[in-house]
Amino acid sequence: MSVEVLILGGTTEGYALAAALADRSGFTPVSSLAGRTASPRRPAGEVRIGGFGGPEGLEAWLRARPTVAAVIDATHPFASRMGWNAAAACAACGLPLLRLERPAWQTVPGDHWDEVEDWEQAAALVAARSRRVLLALGRQELEPFARLDDVWFLIRSVDRPEPMPPFAQAEILLARGPFGLEDERTLLSSHRIDTIVCKNSGGTATESKLAAARALGVRVVMRRRPRRPDLPTVGTVAEAMAWLEATIPAEG
Ligand SMILES: NC(=O)c1ccc[n+]([C@@H]2O[C@H](COP(=O)([O-])OP(=O)(O)OC[C@H]3O[C@@H](n4cnc5c(N)ncnc54)[C@H](OP(=O)(O)O)[C@@H]3O)[C@@H](O)[C@H]2O)c1
Repeated sequence: MSVEVLILGGTTEGYALAAALADRSGFTPVSSLAGRTASPRRPAGEVRIGGFGGPEGLEAWLRARPTVAAVIDATHPFASRMGWNAAAACAACGLPLLRLERPAWQTVPGDHWDEVEDWEQAAALVAARSRRVLLALGRQELEPFARLDDVWFLIRSVDRPEPMPPFAQAEILLARGPFGLEDERTLLSSHRIDTIVCKNSGGTATESKLAAARALGVRVVMRRRPRRPDLPTVGTVAEAMAWLEATIPAEG
């Protein structure tokens, strides 16, 4: 007999935790994906896809599945809603909930960061003092920058922005991380970038741009992570496994 753990996933950490739980006797992972990607990578174990229908929907789903003994919110640091839904639903059902989140990037000496709460603040800073900007954002997040006719943008995106906001001066660079330090330095210098705009995703895959910016004296406008419910939080899969083992002793 084994207990089920619902993983709210769609992230590197969510996939890694599902794999670790699938290998551990006594626990069975059930991964939930939002369904934004047409053909997502499948996590180890059972997978369900699509929204639950708000906190009430998740609560109903959990009540209908009493074999689930704990929930791990491993959604992306910038997925702002799901964590609140999970906190409300788990409180209502009396289920333990853990947040698994990669640590945020921190400034080190030599960095020139301005931290902002939203893209409007970022666009205002860029308008005030930037001329050539690397936008390393999601393609849904470009709109506030398209109004800045005097600024040239290099838009780095995994998929082509559709529809493309009406930028006066912009070039699109289709690319998917991880990115190496030397390539990032070359990119910034060859395009004479003076500012990078990005969000504090954390992790190693896209961190090199920050080291390259530090080396070249390029400013960074960094969006802070959204506020989250006050929950037990860990930064690694190993810590999440230890929490699960302490919180719900596995059977078998
Ligand atoms: N935002 C980012 O930058 C980013 C980057 C990489 C990956 N992701 C992943 O993409 C997913 C969606 O991101 P988002 O920014 O739209 O999140 P969000 O704002 O927190 O969630 C919006 C809605 O999407 C549904 N949802 C989100 N995560 C879900 C999950 N794991 N399983 C089932 N339903 C889920 C929920 O719908 P209902 O209310 O109907 O339940 C939620 O209310 C997340 O799972 C996240 O881990 C996001």
